[in-house]
Amino acid sequence: MESVPLSQWEISEVRTVGDLRGLRACVRAWKREGHRVGFVPTMGNLHAGHFSLVELARRHAGRVVASVFVNPTQFGPDEDYLRYPRTLAEDSVGLVEHNCDLLFAPSIDVMYPFGPDHALRIHVPDVGDTLEGAHRPGHFDGVATVVAKLFTMVEPDLAVFGQKDWQQLLVVRRLVRELDMPLEILAGPIVREPDGLAMSSRNRYLNGRQRARATELHATLQWMHDSFVEGHVLAAIEGAAMRRLQRAGFEPDYAVVRRAEDLGMPAEGERTGLMALGAARLGDTRLIDNLAFD
Ligand code: PAF
Repeated sequence: MESVPLSQWEISEVRTVGDLRGLRACVRAWKREGHRVGFVPTMGNLHAGHFSLVELARRHAGRVVASVFVNPTQFGPDEDYLRYPRTLAEDSVGLVEHNCDLLFAPSIDVMYPFGPDHALRIHVPDVGDTLEGAHRPGHFDGVATVVAKLFTMVEPDLAVFGQKDWQQLLVVRRLVRELDMPLEILAGPIVREPDGLAMSSRNRYLNGRQRARATELHATLQWMHDSFVEGHVLAAIEGAAMRRLQRAGFEPDYAVVRRAEDLGMPAEGERTGLMALGAARLGDTRLIDNLAFD
């Protein structure tokens, strides 16, 4: 009989649980065995950016849990909740390939026993109110609420978030600090396509022409950085960046330079700890990106 390579017999989908009891039994058993548990929350449709977060978690924890849950409370009424790509089977295969130990894929009822419209809401002020918070009212309330719930359910020692959603990372850090949650938050670097476009599940909405133009968002942030280094006035850089995005076919929401640590406006002469952040629509697709100046 022909010998079958071992890999064909290996498990090709990650162990998946949808209920709290199964999740807790698994995580608590690992902790009793002395493992640190790392957690990567996602909304699925996983790509190389997500997998880099799983790998980062793996480097800091003996066991890694990922979650896939398309969270209705962080989408506005006119946003893409219904069409958001749901690819659980493919995600599961990818998670195995990146050494994830457990996938938590809860239903809406598990996450929101009183229904999403009656769910408790956590509001993170200040850092949650500006930029994305201003353009997507209620978005960060939904994010903070679901992340707090996921942390309570998974009980991880550390959780990893991508720097592409920089403001989300700041919101989560504030949440953890203010609620004294006993876990560490790690940030994973932005993963980009070869032409500079930051990886995002929403990139798949772009048609060929839009995809070719989409790289201009990153190019504009890079241009903002270069103009800043040349000593141009911030307000002028921001105005020119908005016009540049419009010329490239975007409808920009913002293109700004802010303090990375709290998204406050830089004081006059402030030169360190800054970053450019941009959000712009190409057709129906809203893209965000950022670039640290240091
Ligand atoms: O970044 C995301 O995918 C989501 O906002 C998160 C953190 C999983 C919460 O739903």
